[in-house]
Amino acid sequence: MSLTLGIESSCDETAAAVVCDDRDVRSSIVATQHELHELYNGVVPEIASRAHLECIGPVVDEALKVAGVSLGDLDAIAVGHAPGLIGSLLVGVSAAKTLSWSLGIPLTGVHHLLAHLHAPALDSEAITYPAVGLLASGGHTSLTVQHGPLEARLLGRTIDDAVGEAFDKAGTLLEAGYPGGPAIERLAQDGDDRAVELPIANLGHDSLDFSFAGLKTALLYATRGTPVGRGQNARFPRTASDLTQQRRADLAASFQRCAIEALTRRAHAALEATPVKTLLGGGGVLCNTLLRTSLTALADRHGVALRIAPPAYCIDNAAMIAGLGHLSIAAGHIDGTNLQAKARLSIEDATA
Ligand code: KG4
Ligand code: ZN
Repeated sequence: MSLTLGIESSCDETAAAVVCDDRDVRSSIVATQHELHELYNGVVPEIASRAHLECIGPVVDEALKVAGVSLGDLDAIAVGHAPGLIGSLLVGVSAAKTLSWSLGIPLTGVHHLLAHLHAPALDSEAITYPAVGLLASGGHTSLTVQHGPLEARLLGRTIDDAVGEAFDKAGTLLEAGYPGGPAIERLAQDGDDRAVELPIANLGHDSLDFSFAGLKTALLYATRGTPVGRGQNARFPRTASDLTQQRRADLAASFQRCAIEALTRRAHAALEATPVKTLLGGGGVLCNTLLRTSLTALADRHGVALRIAPPAYCIDNAAMIAGLGHLSIAAGHIDGTNLQAKARLSIEDATA
């Protein structure tokens, strides 16, 4: 039995967790910064890193307290070191290095996206591989094929916006609130999802890439009308507040249907192309009920097991970091105090 402290600070959540071995979560504490960024309708990197600095100590203390352990009981430290906002990552990585060095226990850097795809195993059964992994979050949208939790190959990814980012922008545009994912899902409840025709990008028959920029722009025009005038003088004739509540709900429902259908279609194509036993889902957008329902039907159709974590482990958390960190250390990936935070790191480079 080995206790790993996980630390996660890649975006706007400061998180710490204690996990026994790879799946048994003893505590998972997440301090979100949504209120700080709401005013700007998006994450402001400088504000995020300052908030991480303030929160990291108390969040780690709380994770230890809830798990009923002290620093001396820990066997290892795992930290999400890439990809993400560099200033935010640095806070978690510095804290993790300090703890590992002062406690004399191993440290491992964990790839944030691989951790999201390990999350379905937390407090649950081990994942059966090979698997196709659908990752849908605020910063990333991708499909991978995995032969183990630390062995992934990219099949496709977004060529522009991440799907969560598109939800966040839709939330701002429809004046539904921030973050946009849960806000759009709530607004869509009373809407007709066929009321507005919006595009679902098709990047070619064989492509497993995604694109959400066209959907976002189509929603902009459907909401605010066609701009009048040219260049810098162009003005939209209306804003979302000029629309009825029903029309806003219809737009939200239509947007949600197309965004989820785009994810499901590509996941279907990935399962067609790659014989696997499991479909894995990870990332904040997997909290979406329509997506969960849609992937359940897809997995049934392909005769594969569907593994999606409960919402608390779909959003950014440190339990997924600690759990995968344990497996990473067991596989011999031990980093020293020279571990680098990296704003970008491909899944392949992380698993090479
Ligand atoms: O994985 P995550 O917590 O952070 C990143 O790594 O980005 O994902 C956050 C994203 C946000 O864009 C948020 O709007 C989206 O997940 N999200 C949702 C829902 N809940 C969160 N998107 C659609 N429907 C939801 N219910
Ligand atoms: Zn994430």
